[in-house]
Amino acid sequence: MTSLTYNDKWGKTKWLLGSKALKPHVPDTKPFTRSGLQTMLQRYPSSVYFKPTRGSGGNGIARIERLASGKYLLHHGEKKRVLTSLGSLHAELKRFAGRRPYLLQRGIHLLKSQGKPFDLRVMVQKTSRGRWLSTGIFAKLGRPGKVVNNYHQGGRIVLLPTALKGAGISKERRDRMKWQLKRMGTHAGRCFDRHRKGFRELGLDVAIDRSRRMWILEINTRPQFYPLKALKDKSMYHRICRYAKQYGRTNGR
Ligand SMILES: Nc1ncnc2c1ncn2[C@@H]1O[C@H](COP(=O)(O)OP(=O)(O)O)[C@@H](O)[C@H]1O
Ligand SMILES: [Mg+2]
Repeated sequence: MTSLTYNDKWGKTKWLLGSKALKPHVPDTKPFTRSGLQTMLQRYPSSVYFKPTRGSGGNGIARIERLASGKYLLHHGEKKRVLTSLGSLHAELKRFAGRRPYLLQRGIHLLKSQGKPFDLRVMVQKTSRGRWLSTGIFAKLGRPGKVVNNYHQGGRIVLLPTALKGAGISKERRDRMKWQLKRMGTHAGRCFDRHRKGFRELGLDVAIDRSRRMWILEINTRPQFYPLKALKDKSMYHRICRYAKQYGRTNGR
């Protein structure tokens, strides 16, 4: 009755890459190895994300940048460190990861809404008839200069139109983006169904870059939606709860 969970970000990335509709929205991602690190920093010197394969809540995530000097900047939480060579960077990342497997992902230069970088959450749920439906989209506004925008890390929740308006996007474009995001959600649901039975809800973390391209940063199989309760307009929260009840989920934590 409950919805299946699956917390392997690398496994889920490979599923998405197998979907013709979703592949163009998946940022280049590799398992963390020394040669992977070298390749990714050559391709995306301005930002590579370093994320635990089984992480959540924005924990254990760092951002790496290759500086013009050829050195590397490692940014984690409030801390920044400069490493002078690829070898020392690799050693530092290995120490940081410990035994946890890690991924490298192309960093997306997030669009800003009133000066704050944001990413989106697209909530998709199965109806009682077994059809995927995008039931809510909201934005997580981060603080400038932070590595992650998760709610737990001080992110703020606003509705999609508010975030897009704050990014200077026209009404017409906002409507089209909303439609595209909803479609991404249902595509993701059908994609996951092709690999395993039992998913009833998914939460897509989507980033929009400066050229307004949309990227799926990850897909959560047990997405939290209780932060929506803090909004004055609780209709989205109630709608999501109504669908969640059908598969026995009674809170959004
Ligand atoms: N490739 C990326 N480019 C830009 N920002 C990213 C990238 N990957 C993650 N982030 C930021 O870090 C946050 C957490 O990353 P995510 O992959 O969702 O891991 P978690 O499972 O910990 O939530 C995202 O919501 C986003 O703000
Ligand atoms: Mg996330």
